[in-house]
Amino acid sequence: MLRIVVCVSGGGTNLQAIIDGVAQGAIVNTQIVKVISNNRGAYALTRAGSAGIESVCVSPKEYADREAFNQAFLEEIDRAQPDLIVLAGFLVKIPEELIRSYPYRIINIHPSLIPSFCGTGYYGLKVHEAALARGVKVTGATVHFVDEGMDTGPIIMQKAVAVREGDTPEVLQKRVMEEAEWVILPWCINLIAGGKVKVENGRVYISE
Ligand code: GAR
Repeated sequence: MLRIVVCVSGGGTNLQAIIDGVAQGAIVNTQIVKVISNNRGAYALTRAGSAGIESVCVSPKEYADREAFNQAFLEEIDRAQPDLIVLAGFLVKIPEELIRSYPYRIINIHPSLIPSFCGTGYYGLKVHEAALARGVKVTGATVHFVDEGMDTGPIIMQKAVAVREGDTPEVLQKRVMEEAEWVILPWCINLIAGGKVKVENGRVYISE
């Protein structure tokens, strides 16, 4: 059984896709053991509660400094003894110590086709604003392993989504979530639970 901790900051629609994937059998051999939010008001916490999943808020605002927050965050993760940590719309920089402790055991969903519109400052709606400003015709979402850089880890899966005439950032965000994020994030977790994902020389290989 793959024990996963899901880290969230906001609405938690990707968390919901994982919850539904486990409930409906699209994700097998997996248990969501804990949801961690950095934001007490995150609707994702309500989603976790409705699904009967243990959840906790660890907010940087409630600690004296970053070091103290990082320590508390690491302790919450370690206590859950996860096999995999899923960043599902988690908008806090992950402590490097966590990345070192869980090599290739942390994944992130990003709402663009990396390496476009990623890195520092590109999160949530800002990604879609930038994509529309650049006038791209195709965007999408990426699931990748987390390394010490910002959105630089090995790419596991990507799915393209068409940009349409008249799209607003909000409309595009919704389409990217529906057509890409909620599809590839549960899919990747299921592949990892099935032992089908390997990383060699910084590249991901998926076996049948
Ligand atoms: C999602 O679009 C996710 O890809 C994005 O935040 C949103 C969270 O929505 N993540 C990033 O931008 C990370 N850089 P959700 O809370 O409804 O899942």
